[in-house]
Amino acid sequence: MGNVLIKSDADLVEMRKACKLAARTLVEAAKMIAPGITTDDINRFVHDYTVKHNAKPAPLGYRGYPKSVCTSINEVICHGIPSDRVLQDGDIINVDVTSILNGWHGDVSATFFVGDVSDDARRLVEVTRECLRLGIEQVKPKVRLGDIGAVIQHHAESNGYSVVQDFVGHGIGRNFHEAPQVLHFGKAGRGQRLAKGMTFTIEPMINQGDYRSIILDDDWTAVTIDGKLSAQFEHTVAVTDDGVEILTAFDEPLLNSEVFK
Ligand code: MF3
Ligand code: CO
Ligand code: CO
Repeated sequence: MGNVLIKSDADLVEMRKACKLAARTLVEAAKMIAPGITTDDINRFVHDYTVKHNAKPAPLGYRGYPKSVCTSINEVICHGIPSDRVLQDGDIINVDVTSILNGWHGDVSATFFVGDVSDDARRLVEVTRECLRLGIEQVKPKVRLGDIGAVIQHHAESNGYSVVQDFVGHGIGRNFHEAPQVLHFGKAGRGQRLAKGMTFTIEPMINQGDYRSIILDDDWTAVTIDGKLSAQFEHTVAVTDDGVEILTAFDEPLLNSEVFK
């Protein structure tokens, strides 16, 4: 995957703009989520909002991906393709937005409740959000990538859930996906050390049942092998002098979701 590209302060000024736009797009898209809308409605909104702000939706045409956002419902782990599917009361849906602004990428996602959701689904989503928060809390210079994976895996498994291994977080910048790979499982004290100026995503996908995934015939949609639920949250972060900056932090609360500081 090549070497980790360290971003300068000037690079970070640009990346912050792309990440803020992605976060704002997700906050606005979240407001439309309700029983009766389709995932194509979300796609249309994300596409138009992105273009209106002089940006490009990174998913569109990426390795042949056909739409401008990923919408992953219930047992879909990630890369769900928007369609005429109607959201139903009780669904959970992850919306994953990636914007390209002035050549820089921002990548962010959250899982939302559609109407009234079962307690089991609610608990999965809450624990998954905590997994992302715990992962982010590890980030500072000299910490190792394995320290991030270990806390996420421990929190998921101690709540009776499993961690998806087939999809991982990633370095991000001028490229959608670059080095390093950020595993959401692993051993503390292992892996590459973090350094100021690294920018990457943390995006744990946590399953109710088996951790394994299969890809549907559309070559994109990843689902759990047992049909049980999967949830995901994602932020793009930068390593600072002494900690972390969440580049895709929200400046207003997500509906059905706590604010991430
Ligand atoms: N946004 C996803 C990620 O977090 C990648 C989606 S690739 C696409 O890395 F082509 F499906 F958009
Ligand atoms: Co990502
Ligand atoms: Co993403």
